[in-house]
Amino acid sequence: MSLSPSLSAFWRGRVVLLTGATGGLGRALARRLAALGSELVLLARRSAALARVHDELEALEGIRPGLYPLDLERASPADYEELAATLEREYGRLDVLIHAAAHFPGLTPLEHTDPVEWLRGLHVNLSAPLFLTMACLPLLRRRSGSQVLFLLEGEGCSRRPLYGAYGIAKGALAELAAMLDRELAASGVRVTAVRLPPMRTALRARAWFAEDPRAVPDPASCADEMLERLAEDAPSAAIAVSRPA
Ligand SMILES: NC(=O)c1ccc[n+]([C@@H]2O[C@H](COP(=O)([O-])OP(=O)(O)OC[C@H]3O[C@@H](n4cnc5c(N)ncnc54)[C@H](OP(=O)(O)O)[C@@H]3O)[C@@H](O)[C@H]2O)c1
Repeated sequence: MSLSPSLSAFWRGRVVLLTGATGGLGRALARRLAALGSELVLLARRSAALARVHDELEALEGIRPGLYPLDLERASPADYEELAATLEREYGRLDVLIHAAAHFPGLTPLEHTDPVEWLRGLHVNLSAPLFLTMACLPLLRRRSGSQVLFLLEGEGCSRRPLYGAYGIAKGALAELAAMLDRELAASGVRVTAVRLPPMRTALRARAWFAEDPRAVPDPASCADEMLERLAEDAPSAAIAVSRPA
């Protein structure tokens, strides 16, 4: 992909906190943002996987992103406050918060859902992104043009059979993003819900284990379109990334 000047101008120097940075889409976003010159802070649960992304970005782009291992299932409000304080101390600002972490253990009928798994799915996919956003808002408010991005499935995921807490949480996340965007309208912080097509990642393979992975778009192409749309379109409460032809 050639880097358009407006794309580079938009992302260069922005401090971006990216959750789910070791996942299929998260790694693709991290690579592209690094190439565009953003200052990255990468968050995921597993330190070893984060270290691998760090080494990959250093080898590819010569940059050394900040790493922040944190389990969103167990993190407390105090942990989120500590993260925000670390960002302020180390970077002095935050321009973009991208919520790309997701917990999806696989397809299960509601009738057979383990209650603990249900709560985990709602917490990691819905409550934790809100709590992290709340802690980061004081930093985000200080920057003009700052953004929070929540990542959604296609329309109707919350009614799709067997998607359980993940599907319900993604449906609720769309409503949460719209509510928060309106509440923050006067603050200068823009909240955008990004609808994504199916992508060839570990998460997708947990539901569609029999499909030919080559039939599903590479997350890198979706990451590229998402970053382009955010740079080139007027700020919007919702965008949909298309499935590449
Ligand atoms: N794949 C698709 O077809 C598809 C379609 C539409 C929307 N999306 C959305 O796109 C985003 C990225 O999905 P993906 O397919 O790239 O997922 P993925 O490959 O399964 O990656 C999930 C990421 O979330 C992190 N994570 C999971 N549980 C966590 C926890 N408790 N605490 C902290 N981090 C945790 C993982 O970190 P560790 O490696 O440390 O566990 C990993 O970095 C998600 O929001 C997903 O809902 C995906």
